[in-house]
Amino acid sequence: MSQPFQVCIVLGTRPEAIKLAPVIQTFRQSPQLKTYVVLTGQHREMVDQVMQLFELTADEDLAIMQPKQTLTDITCRSLTGLQGLFQKIQPDLVLVQGDTTTAFAAGLAAFYQKIPLGHVEAGLRTDNIYDPFPEEANRRLLTQIAQLHFAPTEMAVENLRKSGTPGAIHLTGNTVIDALLTVAARSPQCTIPGLDWAQSRVILSTVHRRENWGEPLQNIARSFLKILDAAPDTALVLPLHRNPTVRDPLKAILNQHPRTFLIEPLDYAQLVGAIQRCHLLMTDSGGLQEEAPSLGKPVLILRETTERPEAVTAGTAKLVGTQTETLFTEAMTLLTDENQYQQMANAVNPFGDGRSSQRILEICLDYLQAQS
Ligand code: UD1
Repeated sequence: MSQPFQVCIVLGTRPEAIKLAPVIQTFRQSPQLKTYVVLTGQHREMVDQVMQLFELTADEDLAIMQPKQTLTDITCRSLTGLQGLFQKIQPDLVLVQGDTTTAFAAGLAAFYQKIPLGHVEAGLRTDNIYDPFPEEANRRLLTQIAQLHFAPTEMAVENLRKSGTPGAIHLTGNTVIDALLTVAARSPQCTIPGLDWAQSRVILSTVHRRENWGEPLQNIARSFLKILDAAPDTALVLPLHRNPTVRDPLKAILNQHPRTFLIEPLDYAQLVGAIQRCHLLMTDSGGLQEEAPSLGKPVLILRETTERPEAVTAGTAKLVGTQTETLFTEAMTLLTDENQYQQMANAVNPFGDGRSSQRILEICLDYLQAQS
């Protein structure tokens, strides 16, 4: 048999690890490929948890994380580290996922060495370059330098066509559904000391986005206090992001309330267990906007824009912004109006069928064979 093709999969943050885990597992099973997994280390603990859950090991780790790292730090340290690594490995193809600074820097590092680039979850758009910041710019820049674009939905395909991308566009579904279905099938538990899931209607929340830092974050926290006071049978579960810029203000406002559970980041299996058991979600996370509708839970999106309008169109998610009064009103509607709640609590799966990784593998093999 001829030499296997060398593929380098680069990731740095938790959502990339979740969405690339099924891709890595699928690629590593192919005898035609030698698959290197490279961590930039943009995130540390939060990525290590996911790697363990999916029983994955990395081949290289640039360990770039610093406390309070800036976007410039992440970009420069990733670019420099990947330059040497790509020279050493000489990959035939580099794969990145989504819109983080790791993904962008890895794409740029591949481009500088004229290594073909595949972009998983390509074509998401808000059409506002500052929201989410810097993710909308990261994904647009990747669109211009990738050869293979793996679009999760028809809408993403359309966005890519409009972007005048030079590469080949493939509709694959979103790999997050591959990961979600694998983990959900194991009926994962989520145990939180002091919380009886059966006794309370749980609001599950996560917040971390840069555009919500400062005043919006405080408004969100205040809305939680109002909701908890108005609905005594509710509890708030809020796994805190590791970033102190996010966690400190949330703790300051919410720590004292007896029905708030400010906990450390959940590992992915526990998070899936929490989605399955909660009543509704209030989040600015992109991944949760994809996962919750698949498990039949309504989502209030704590942002002004979304690059995932499919769930909003399907009626299971609603874009509500960050104003305290609006969040209070929207949450109370779902907590008091059973009809409204049921209308949103539909299990729909506009993002994929769980077979995206296999499609991506086949497309990459065809591409590599055609190139050789
Ligand atoms: C990054 C991504 C964002 C993604 C998010 C998921 C960019 C620009 N942003 O944002 O798209 O949605 O990850 O979480 O790429 N920290 C730790 N341990 C960890 C992870 C983070 O201590 O395991 C702390 C560090 O102090 C770090 C800070 O969190 O400086 C912020 O991390 P950073 O990667 O800069 O930004 P995120 O907000 O996580």
